[in-house]
Amino acid sequence: MSKASTPVDHALFEFIARTTIQEDDLLRSLREAAAREGLPEIHIAPEQAAFLQLILRAANARTVIEVGTLGGYSAIAMARGLPANGRVITHELDPKHAAFAEQWIERSDQRGKIEVRVGNAVQTLPSLADGSADAVFLDADKPGYVTYLQHAMRLLRPGGILLADNVLADGEVSDPKATSTTALAIRRFLAAVQATVSLRSVIVPLGDGCLFGVKDE
Ligand SMILES: C[S@@+](CC[C@H](N)C(=O)[O-])C[C@H]1O[C@@H](n2cnc3c(N)ncnc32)[C@H](O)[C@@H]1O
Repeated sequence: MSKASTPVDHALFEFIARTTIQEDDLLRSLREAAAREGLPEIHIAPEQAAFLQLILRAANARTVIEVGTLGGYSAIAMARGLPANGRVITHELDPKHAAFAEQWIERSDQRGKIEVRVGNAVQTLPSLADGSADAVFLDADKPGYVTYLQHAMRLLRPGGILLADNVLADGEVSDPKATSTTALAIRRFLAAVQATVSLRSVIVPLGDGCLFGVKDE
């Protein structure tokens, strides 16, 4: 057993990306169009998309709830990990992002499987039924993560999966001198995760860090 993890530098990250399922033409075109239309370039990385898709497939997930749609990149990637009757219900605050996502979902191979709900997720999540989700993916405003965690624990069925992006906060999460809004919010979120006794989790250092958790049966 090695005592320390292998540090993943830029070159190793490039290698991981190269040896992972490659981004297809649709997702590449979506990403390029989003940049042209001025959407922020804060979608998940292709290797994270592959990771989410494979986790959902391995878990036989059918219903996924996403918080933070942006242009629909991760929603389409996750929908590809679900069966034909699977469903992604994704929540987006910004109507411009939601409209872009709806347009690209419609032209994707996953049309009919993804529903975009527009509005503040704090207001739109409560209408979803307890235990209705096989997986929840958090990728919206970081100060909201603690609230989204509470919703996720209510929405997930026993054995359901929690995924959350950016839990390394650009590397600031473990730096005590870092006091950015994101670093503070992610530390509060990770403390809340650790305090949630019915959730087992690990941080997977892909992209900016992906929390992977399983709710107890
Ligand atoms: C990091 S991006 C999501 C990226 C997307 N998951 C992907 O990888 O393609 C975060 C998104 O969350 C949205 N957002 C921020 N606050 C929100 C809130 N309170 N409710 C719903 N969406 C929110 C932002 O408008 C933005 O589009």
